[in-house]
Amino acid sequence: MNIHDPQVGIIGGTGGMGAWFADLLEQTGLRVIRVGRSTPVTPVDAARQCDVTVVSVPIADTVRVIRDVAPLVPENSLLMDLTSIKTAPMGAMLEFSRSQVVGLHPLFGPSAPRGETGLRIVVCRGRGARGLDWIRKVLSTAGLVVVEMTAQEHDRVMGVVQGINHFVTLSLALCVERSGIDLKDLIDCSTQTFARRLERVRAVLDQPAGLFGSILMENPTAGAFIDEHLHAAEEVARTVRDGERRDFEEMFARLKRFFHQPYHTQGGKTV
Ligand SMILES: NC(=O)c1ccc[n+]([C@@H]2O[C@H](COP(=O)([O-])OP(=O)(O)OC[C@H]3O[C@@H](n4cnc5c(N)ncnc54)[C@H](OP(=O)(O)O)[C@@H]3O)[C@@H](O)[C@H]2O)c1
Repeated sequence: MNIHDPQVGIIGGTGGMGAWFADLLEQTGLRVIRVGRSTPVTPVDAARQCDVTVVSVPIADTVRVIRDVAPLVPENSLLMDLTSIKTAPMGAMLEFSRSQVVGLHPLFGPSAPRGETGLRIVVCRGRGARGLDWIRKVLSTAGLVVVEMTAQEHDRVMGVVQGINHFVTLSLALCVERSGIDLKDLIDCSTQTFARRLERVRAVLDQPAGLFGSILMENPTAGAFIDEHLHAAEEVARTVRDGERRDFEEMFARLKRFFHQPYHTQGGKTV
């Protein structure tokens, strides 16, 4: 891999996250080719010719695109992806290429302001040390906080961070739709916290359904966490219906202890 002046090709560089990543790399002085389905440079050209190839296509197409391009990536080049799910794309990159491999997952969307520092990005080690060291340095220099974990650890954590999170947002949206109360009345009477929740519902529904469908259906751990969430909701409902204040207060105190424990995050922040 040409570490000093690498040519980067982003397959999906014409889309939301791919364009964001292309802008970031260009800001650090790197040369980037943005590739889509109808650009002059094709995914196959990019994979053959670039020192670094990044796959950033819709989740449902990712493994198929990796199968097509990974065998063409030269052995001394670096193959990466930006997919929100890591186990299947990492497995495919390792199986179908001979190159260096790193998996990335930006923990923000393409609407994040360009140049903002402190944004977090997951980095999964795949194959080879040079490519991994290079991308760590590029990301840190650009002001991103690098969080390192395996693909399997990533998908387990994301089963909660994205799986349960989006599931709760969609369940709330469905529940509000079926409440029989006019949206106008809900907006007129919104507390600040409820207004933020409605804002979140709209933000999710503004994005492509395919992205959220894939995050919920293709993360191997999301289904189990959704079941766990349903059990938890039943437990809260039982406690509320039973009307036993002491049980409710005990649950409240236990949760308060859990959420107020001090911890150190990757990136050096102590909360
Ligand atoms: N959006 C987010 O909030 C977010 C956050 C973190 C990570 N991600 C990840 O980023 C990746 C891309 O998501 P996105 O939201 O950026 O999607 P997007 O805006 O729909 O962009 C998809 C890109 O993929 C290209 N593409 C689609 N099918 C292709 C194919 N068969 N061959 C080659 N290129 C193809 C499209 O190019 P053309 O249309 O020009 O052909 C477009 O550039 C996903 O893996 C997602 O998990 C997204």
